[in-house]
Amino acid sequence: MSPTKNTQRLFFALWPDDKTRKAISISVKRAAQYHQGKSIHINNLHLTLAFLGNVNQAQREYLEQCVESISVQPFSLYLNHLGVFPRPKVLWLGIKEQPDALTHLVTSIEKCACDCGIKLDNKYFYPHVTLMRKVKQLNEFDIDPVHWDVNKFCLVESVSQPKGVEYKVVKSW
Ligand code: 2AM
Repeated sequence: MSPTKNTQRLFFALWPDDKTRKAISISVKRAAQYHQGKSIHINNLHLTLAFLGNVNQAQREYLEQCVESISVQPFSLYLNHLGVFPRPKVLWLGIKEQPDALTHLVTSIEKCACDCGIKLDNKYFYPHVTLMRKVKQLNEFDIDPVHWDVNKFCLVESVSQPKGVEYKVVKSW
């Protein structure tokens, strides 16, 4: 759906608690010492579960009802390795082992999106937290691995502001 004033640009994400956010931001600072590019603002750090794009009010209400019934046990993520997606030029912090609960959560969200007529990119889900954009190649550096206890997932709005994009949590489950 193309953007209108009646749509919101939305995505589902894992939104770090303050302690986890600060721990990830250490890697953002260190990454900036080793790379040219644009660092992600600490308040915007997150792990995308499903990018929805422009969603209207009716779709959003239906989606919110649908994800209400998703049942997933809390799980932990161990963010312990770096990588670069060359085409979007994204430097990220990721996990080596994907918990089954995360796979189940993403699959369930994708089904809800499909049921309410939202077409998702058919890209393979690769869990990561973007640290920097406009990075051409990875220059390895030491990271302090981050242990993240996950007990909620969020619907997030991407809002364009004059100073850059801002992500706002709309609702959490
Ligand atoms: P990222 O996870 O690699 O940083 C909001 O734009 C979030 O959704 C970002 O975290 C972004 O990339 C992710 N995303 C995934 N697919 C996207 C797409 N097709 N367009 C914009 N953002 C997308």
